[in-house]
Amino acid sequence: MEANPRRDTRILQCRPGFEADCAAEAGPGATVLGEGIVGVSAPMDSWPPLADLVFARQAFRQVAELTELPPGDRINPILAALAAHAGPISVLLLEHPDTNAGKEIAGFLRKFTPALTSALGKHGFKLERGAGRRLHLLFTDSRHLRVGFSAGDEGSPLSNGILRLKMPREAPSRSTLKLEEALLTFLDAQEQQRWLRAGLTAVDLGAAPGGWTWQLTQRGLRVTAVDNGPMQPALMATGLVEHRREDGFRYRPRRPVDWLLCDMVEQPQRIAALMADWLTRGDCRRAVFNLKLPMKRRHDNLQECLKFLRQRLDSAGLDYRLRCKQLYHDREEVTAYIALT
Ligand SMILES: C[S@@+](CC[C@H](N)C(=O)[O-])C[C@H]1O[C@@H](n2cnc3c(N)ncnc32)[C@H](O)[C@@H]1O
Repeated sequence: MEANPRRDTRILQCRPGFEADCAAEAGPGATVLGEGIVGVSAPMDSWPPLADLVFARQAFRQVAELTELPPGDRINPILAALAAHAGPISVLLLEHPDTNAGKEIAGFLRKFTPALTSALGKHGFKLERGAGRRLHLLFTDSRHLRVGFSAGDEGSPLSNGILRLKMPREAPSRSTLKLEEALLTFLDAQEQQRWLRAGLTAVDLGAAPGGWTWQLTQRGLRVTAVDNGPMQPALMATGLVEHRREDGFRYRPRRPVDWLLCDMVEQPQRIAALMADWLTRGDCRRAVFNLKLPMKRRHDNLQECLKFLRQRLDSAGLDYRLRCKQLYHDREEVTAYIALT
């Protein structure tokens, strides 16, 4: 008889309220462990990279769970749990769920970090840039802790997998952060240099008041902003924006553009079909768009949209890269990126 394959426990963090979607996406062996936390029991070689998961923002392999950390001495039980895993680490990530309770834990973690870092350093967990593995300590309260490691694309080097961005004062809307996060998440530094520069063109559907358009004009691109609503006057004064008060579902550019952006609040199936039309007709080379999630069957609904998009692009014979993520700045939506290659 074949021996049972070894099963490892992978811990995923997601936006609170999306645990069921995160678990459904992770597949068999996934269970909701608490607010914003899902566990997956499966052989490690079957784990997809974090970037391929839409709902998970952080992931690591659990090596220990501590449930009764004594308030007077938390450090020694942590060192004991880690005794068999000594070796350099590239970063120590002290994490917590993205909940109100989690924010209280963050305050406690700030005080606790210097002493813990120093104790870990003395017990074989030196911080070294090229160490290749990250140490995760995920606190669900001040006594309950999950300990583990991630390496390479298994997890994120950012604490809680969250890319924190500062709201630029001159930007027309907070939505600007969504596009900034999307560009930094989906494009590497080289792609950003190549594809976000003066001389390139974009269309922004549902652009008003201009937070997404602003991200591109800041990088020197020319943007056609399509929306019946008003655009921020300072943005229009850059001379880089043409405002067209038209229906985003009907507008088409006279010449192909480099980028299509779309933040219209509409049924996700309608947005997916529109994106597929633009890409398959050659109207744009890359697209960033939001898919608003329905109230029910969010994971299934999203999978149907992504499958539809792939089928349309495949049957047009296109080579492309498709990424989709529930970003930190997304709420009841996810952001997708398609680049023709
Ligand atoms: C969430 S807001 C966009 C915010 C914008 N991305 C920003 O960063 O400032 C959605 C916009 O879509 C526009 N919209 C909705 N349906 C549209 C349509 N059919 N055609 C054009 N614009 C539409 C609305 O007028 C609204 O301004």
